[in-house]
Amino acid sequence: MSETLAESVRVHKEGQLSHLVLNRAAHLNALNPEMLQTLLTHLERLNKNEKVRVLVISADGEKAFVAGADINSMASLGPRPIADYVELGQRVMRQIETVRFPVIAAVHGYALGGGLELALACDLIVAADDAKLGQPEVGLGILPGFGGTQRLIHRCGVAAARRLVYTGEIISAEEALRLGIVDKLVPRGEIIDAAYAWANTIIQKAPLAVAASKRVIRESQDQCLNAGLRLEVAAFLELFPTLDREEGMDAFKHKREAKFTGK
Ligand code: COA
Repeated sequence: MSETLAESVRVHKEGQLSHLVLNRAAHLNALNPEMLQTLLTHLERLNKNEKVRVLVISADGEKAFVAGADINSMASLGPRPIADYVELGQRVMRQIETVRFPVIAAVHGYALGGGLELALACDLIVAADDAKLGQPEVGLGILPGFGGTQRLIHRCGVAAARRLVYTGEIISAEEALRLGIVDKLVPRGEIIDAAYAWANTIIQKAPLAVAASKRVIRESQDQCLNAGLRLEVAAFLELFPTLDREEGMDAFKHKREAKFTGK
């Protein structure tokens, strides 16, 4: 692993309670392919480390947990590389969902697009009171491609999922708590302590029982989730070659309003 790769995701702790920190704050921790691959490598390694009982994922920087997939890395990709990018994002989220141990997201600031999708793939979400969450992809001419359409439905029901995905609205932490998107709301300075407190409670319980609980809860939803995830990738790859997608991403790059034409 190159030094840059290693730095985009920092291993803050590795042991019973492990902690990964996303570390690309100058870009609001936007998930580019290298960062996704690094995250995947860490998750695979931690899953093989029998000591690990709970993983906490948080992010460095003042403004954001993760502001989404990296729009700038994505914008100029051709059909094969964009398919590889979306599939890599989906694999990372799936890996979080299938590791032996519970994963807790500690979310502050913006958790948008791929950032909310990352949190949704985790077992528990602790949010800071400054968290702002949403799936703004329709404003870029695409739809959530890292599992957001599906995991939102599973977490908070189809009605809230429709509203968030169709409008791209960014909601407050209070509203996310009310909708059941996040599990706990704490002052900004307390998210890591709150995540560790849950982690330590889980660590006191029987390891095999916790792992079996995670597996059983996940497998009860898998059939429906897997079918939905395939539909989501197909729709994403259909939208990617459209003029609206080019317009949406160009508008983001040049910090202007997008003008969509439905083409
Ligand atoms: N991909 C790539 N770069 C991103 C990014 C993303 N998803 N989100 C933010 N950045 C970059 C910005 O381009 C900017 O880079 P620059 O300093 O080189 O111009 C930097 O991070 C800081 O972001 P900025 O937009 O200046 O901060 P802000 O406080 O004005 O706005 C957001 C914050 C989150 C509202 C805004 O960055 C945003 O809308 N990001 C995209 C959200 C999104 O659509 N996510 C889904 C992606 S599929």
